[in-house]
Amino acid sequence: MTRYSWSLLAAIIAASLATSCSHKNAAAPLPKPTVFGSAIVESSGGKQMAQTGSLLPQPVVVQVNDDQNNGIAGALVELEAAPGVTFDPAYGLTDSSGQFTTNVSLGGMAGRYQLTAFTFDKSHKRVELTLQEIALGYQQTLGRRFNDQYCDRCHNPESTVERVSNYDNLEVKPHPFTEGDTLNKMTDADLTAIITYGGPALNKSALMPAWGNTLSKTDIQALISYIRAVADPPSRNSEPHYSKN
Ligand code: HEC
Repeated sequence: MTRYSWSLLAAIIAASLATSCSHKNAAAPLPKPTVFGSAIVESSGGKQMAQTGSLLPQPVVVQVNDDQNNGIAGALVELEAAPGVTFDPAYGLTDSSGQFTTNVSLGGMAGRYQLTAFTFDKSHKRVELTLQEIALGYQQTLGRRFNDQYCDRCHNPESTVERVSNYDNLEVKPHPFTEGDTLNKMTDADLTAIITYGGPALNKSALMPAWGNTLSKTDIQALISYIRAVADPPSRNSEPHYSKN
């Protein structure tokens, strides 16, 4: 091809890109807010986890407040996150209690996802709130299942409908696996030892049972990978963070 036909081709491509862009802009006009808030706060839905690419168990609910911290109806809320995260819906107006609710599916990569919810105040300044959610990879999801089955009843102080916590009955208190300050200090070898052989393997309480006969090495690996994934603050071994940039 001559130099001329190359530049002609480039011009055609540029023109077709430009039209597809303008289509996109025309597709979805944002609803018009009737009020402007001064703050956006979380009502619920932060710090959840789900397998990569799947829906979080609970919706994310945010609230737009006025100067007196009262929720206001009719404010515009929009959500942003890394590519791969989807919101249903991704924007809308707050309801009569000032809240906006959206269902969130996390991206296909394991790790921590930062979600940003924002609105605009009276002077058109962007006011935002960030939330964090965790996407568990395949091995971590497996580990989570073992945790629910074998560990949670002692390591999680909260009781649920299906499971009464044994935590209060224990003379020596275990740590929830989210307690990064404690769990991050333990090496993978420490974790393998205490899970396989029980508390005494690390000179700790025998109230921590041995799991070496119940769980395979691969199962224990999966548990450790889950423990690393949920640590707060995050472990050095945990997966990367994904945010809108
Ligand atoms: C019957 C109650 C019980 C169950 C079930 C249990 N643990 Fe523990 N675990 C403990 C106690 C008690 C300690 C604290 C021991 C100490 O500090 O002396 C502990 C400590 C630990 C520790 C060291 C960090 C910490 O929390 O202090 C790890 C890691 C651990 N357990 C992993 C597990 C895993 C993984 C499972 C499931 C496979 C599990 N535990 C199931 C009671 C339990």
